[in-house]
Amino acid sequence: MRGVFHTDDTDMKLDIDFVRTQFYQLQDEPGFIFCSSAGGSYVANQVNAVMEHYNTHTRVQPYERYSTSREAGVAMDRAIDGWAAALNISPSELTIGPSTSMNTYVMAQSIGTNLHPGDEMIVTNQDHEANSGAWRRKAEEKGVKIRQWSVDAQSGLLDPGQLDGLLTEKTKWVFFPHCSNIVGTVNPVREITDRVRRNSSARVFVDAVAYAPHHICNLKSLGIDGYAFSLYKVYGPHQSLMYVNRDILHTLAPQCHYFNTGHPRQWLNPAGPQHAEVASCAGVLDYFNALYRHHHGEAPRSATGHQVQMERLHELIREHESRLAEPILDFLDNATHVRLIGKTHTRDNDRVPTISFRPLKQSAREVSSKMQALNVGCESGHFYAHRLITDLGIDPEDGVVRISLAHYNSHEEVEKILVALDRAID
Ligand SMILES: Cc1ncc(COP(=O)(O)O)c(C=O)c1O
Repeated sequence: MRGVFHTDDTDMKLDIDFVRTQFYQLQDEPGFIFCSSAGGSYVANQVNAVMEHYNTHTRVQPYERYSTSREAGVAMDRAIDGWAAALNISPSELTIGPSTSMNTYVMAQSIGTNLHPGDEMIVTNQDHEANSGAWRRKAEEKGVKIRQWSVDAQSGLLDPGQLDGLLTEKTKWVFFPHCSNIVGTVNPVREITDRVRRNSSARVFVDAVAYAPHHICNLKSLGIDGYAFSLYKVYGPHQSLMYVNRDILHTLAPQCHYFNTGHPRQWLNPAGPQHAEVASCAGVLDYFNALYRHHHGEAPRSATGHQVQMERLHELIREHESRLAEPILDFLDNATHVRLIGKTHTRDNDRVPTISFRPLKQSAREVSSKMQALNVGCESGHFYAHRLITDLGIDPEDGVVRISLAHYNSHEEVEKILVALDRAID
């Protein structure tokens, strides 16, 4: 029987046929190839099931003492506790907000009260604006000096070694992406955090929006203070999860109503929770559980069981995604009139299948339009990484073509993407 394996199988492959049955939308439009997942992924069936159940059966105010309300509260708690366990954090360290841009904006208001003229902050030009603008604006307002950790202007890569020269005893925060939504190379978060700790007493905040669709990390192993990502790119509802280490949470100014400060999960949330959406965050974990069970059997029940599960899923997904990305990277690297951004291969196991390139003889818009006419759903533009695109010497008005894949894409689809690329690029 396909998909039932022993847990010690080392050469196991992702069962792509199984994966594709878990997403209704993949069956919806035969022939169409969706490769814009970095903008927002397809939603797993399990997520839709939780959302539908919540909206059709428990759409009341949760946490009251009648049965429907109790059920609604249990559904929300299942999502909160489940995600806390998956990330190896406490539920009190988890903020669920409407988007990562909103979460970082609120976080900026919160850290701002502790910032003073003469303080310093490090931001990158590799980030999506969600992990840049809010901090830069707050710094300007508070008289804080911004130091930019800049990418290599050709490859778009960040060199961790350059951080040492930027950190001082005045550095209060360092912000960087786990992975850029354009460059697709994974930044070594633990190594970077260790550098920060060695050279300063600064706090570290990481934007993982472009990385989480490929791996859910054990956050305590990264040594960071804050971390955020958007579940609508991780097969889930339009919600963002933000972790802030409990050791610093209460040193930050609360952004909730004054009478809610007794609830740490509301500390950084000025809004009321979106009940059905919060509950349906659990559906993403239901999907990961189904994926794990299909390949490895029941998940381990030990204290570290969630992390073992996520690591094993990551191995399956990374191997599959690398094999999807390689031929596309190869094609673009060898194409004459193309500038490929980021690493040209996946050999170092640090490249997600988010592939951006700049056509040299055509506009990005022209190439993406040709690809779309061939039923390949890629995109073009600056993808809100406006500073990065500009500093790579590319006109942000036109930007790059981005092909962003997820583990539900197949080798057959990659074959068709290659044919489309060949026809679209002059
Ligand atoms: C790397 C990265 N960070 C942050 C964001 C912003 O996320 P949200 O749309 O949830 O505000 C995005 C969205 O595309 C992104 O790609």
